[in-house]
Amino acid sequence: MLQSELIKLRDSMSLQEKIDQMLQLNGQFYEENNEDVLTGPAGSMGFTEQDIEMAGSILGAKGAERLIAIQKAYMEKQPHHIPMLFMLDVIHGLETVFPAPLGLGATFEPELAGKCASAAAKEAAVSGLHVTFSPMVDLVRDARWGRVMESTGEDPYLNGLFAAEQVKGFQGEDMSEPYKICACIKHFAAYGAPNAGRDYNTVELSEHTLRDFYLKSYKAGIDAGAGMVMTSFNTVNGVPASTNKWLMRDILRGEMGFDGVLISDYAAILETIPHGHSASPSDAAVKALEAGVDIDMMTSVYSANLLKLVEEGVVPEALIDEAVLRILELKNKLGLFENPYKDGDPEKEKEIILCEEHRALARETAAKSLVLLENDGILPLDTTKKVAFIGPYTSEKHIISSWAIAGNVPACVTIEEAAGEVLCAEKTSYHKGCTILGSGNQIISFTGIMKETTPEEEELRWMEEACEAAKEADIVVMPLGEHYAQSGEASSRAMIDVPEVQMRLFRRIKEVNENIVVLLFHGRPLDLRELKQEARAVLACWIPGTEGGHAIMDVLTGKVNPSGKLPMSFPYCVGQVPVFYNEYQTGRPFTDENLKFLSRYMDIPNKPLYPFGYGLSYTSFEISPVKVSSETMKADETLTVSAIIKNTGGCSGTEVVQLYIQDQTASVVRPVKELKGLQKVTLQPGEEKEVSFAVTESMLQFTRADGTVGSEPGIFSVWIGNSSETENKAEFDLKK
Ligand code: GLC
Repeated sequence: MLQSELIKLRDSMSLQEKIDQMLQLNGQFYEENNEDVLTGPAGSMGFTEQDIEMAGSILGAKGAERLIAIQKAYMEKQPHHIPMLFMLDVIHGLETVFPAPLGLGATFEPELAGKCASAAAKEAAVSGLHVTFSPMVDLVRDARWGRVMESTGEDPYLNGLFAAEQVKGFQGEDMSEPYKICACIKHFAAYGAPNAGRDYNTVELSEHTLRDFYLKSYKAGIDAGAGMVMTSFNTVNGVPASTNKWLMRDILRGEMGFDGVLISDYAAILETIPHGHSASPSDAAVKALEAGVDIDMMTSVYSANLLKLVEEGVVPEALIDEAVLRILELKNKLGLFENPYKDGDPEKEKEIILCEEHRALARETAAKSLVLLENDGILPLDTTKKVAFIGPYTSEKHIISSWAIAGNVPACVTIEEAAGEVLCAEKTSYHKGCTILGSGNQIISFTGIMKETTPEEEELRWMEEACEAAKEADIVVMPLGEHYAQSGEASSRAMIDVPEVQMRLFRRIKEVNENIVVLLFHGRPLDLRELKQEARAVLACWIPGTEGGHAIMDVLTGKVNPSGKLPMSFPYCVGQVPVFYNEYQTGRPFTDENLKFLSRYMDIPNKPLYPFGYGLSYTSFEISPVKVSSETMKADETLTVSAIIKNTGGCSGTEVVQLYIQDQTASVVRPVKELKGLQKVTLQPGEEKEVSFAVTESMLQFTRADGTVGSEPGIFSVWIGNSSETENKAEFDLKK
């Protein structure tokens, strides 16, 4: 449809019809034969029959047949036959599930994440979906916050690359094309900085930090063309995001130029009342509309108040008109006026969902996401040895995240299944050893209370049986880790440990067999001090997804040489949190263990246990001293920074070569290092390659003391290395 036709359509709609477009309801209200919708949950939430019949979009439903039926029924009733939008959290895959985003970040391969998004879009599109609430691009620094699992980490530059590639993967160049869906950048803004790492908590940031660290990745996703942005639950410096005019009108739409649909997070507009910013639903409706929020997700704040507010002249109809036009524009961008069912096709669903191509991509991505944290040479496994797999993740099918809400758990490949394909059955045994959380413990997941019901005596028997097996084995591989429901939304943890029952199992096994390889399943950085000390190898597996078992065995056997790098620092312990590499130096940097009056702890080191950008390989690499093409650089010049990387080990491998820059002196203090470039380099043994980066003035810009954005002349440090702790440094002087 032409823009003029959209405007004509909008202007032909009644006020009520326009307001209907600004409501999003849960797909559960549209289940077949759901007569008690109005007497049940919908009624209790204040929704009317009008709401349910005329809401402009729904979330949480999927399946081609079901969505085609809902669309057909809706359009017959809709006065102008405007199609409904179907949205779902396709965060890192629909039924084929890719690594949880923190694991995707560990690939340091944004293009690969883009391919995963494209595959996810294809499965979502044939299932009848139009929009995904992904990518989540919140910068994260606090491992206590459960939603770090959904982020690609602590670095603005890396998060920006992943945001852009995922948007392009979901949307392509034109989201009306087959198998493309609209992406949604979330959660705007700075949701990843909640006080004390507690979900939904207060966010207080200087504007400088907000701009130079947190806003970058949202901007990258918007610049990549994201069709939608979602507001966050938190306040930003005292004002809830969903009613924050400065954040939404001035920053998002003004400075960033976002002109797409702004949707609230789930009930976030109504929640501005308990926040203490809105006095009533009517007040919340005014504030959110004035902030430019177009769709109210799952409350009746808009649907129950806007009509009266316009009729009484409290809000101008023009604000409704602009919101509705943006919603119609999105439906138009998806081609829904021409084809309201888009790619929804039950036959295609059967052919495309969990197809071999998607599984192969999931396997490749998961293998690249694994980060080798420790290895004294025990890996890759000597497959002639006797191996006992001992741990609750040995045969665990649920290796997808709490946000993989459409994920196909039975389709997941366990470690035991994958090991059975490659290891000699006579020399391999498999033992659960204990439950994930420990007998009698429970956890609240998205679907309710989950309790470990195994009787304690049985769990002890498992442990002893595993112990016997460990005595007989040459090597013990221990798949341990968090429960999948211990990360994700509303899953903050004050103690970031591997569940105690599993550490007891580890210590018991260590008593009888020194040769332990730990495979860690986790949605966040964990406190790994003991495992680092006591295991011979530790492989961070994150939440690896559908092909997790195959990917892990590919790395354990050396079929794939691990190349993952940490996208988020692993703290020494929870007391160090928030810990991140791109910190400021302070006036008393910690330089000497024996000096007291420095910025330091008395009882732990300042450095994280494992730093951002760190990850081992089965081979080794050497990087030559950094060279700069000139010791000075003018603003209109490009400086080339280079080094030679050589594979000095015995097998081919891939290294993530990282470029870091520091502005040594500026009108506001600058981080000790900032990632400004990365290149993945694959080399055969003995092979070497020159890696070079172009440094331009735009890479040196920041929010200066006077609030303007730009660079400042002076001396810069530049590093090329394989982690944020590299000391391979040179300097250059940026001249006026
Ligand atoms: C949730 C999450 C958000 C998600 C939305 C819809 O509360 O905060 O990330 O997209 O609701 O499910």
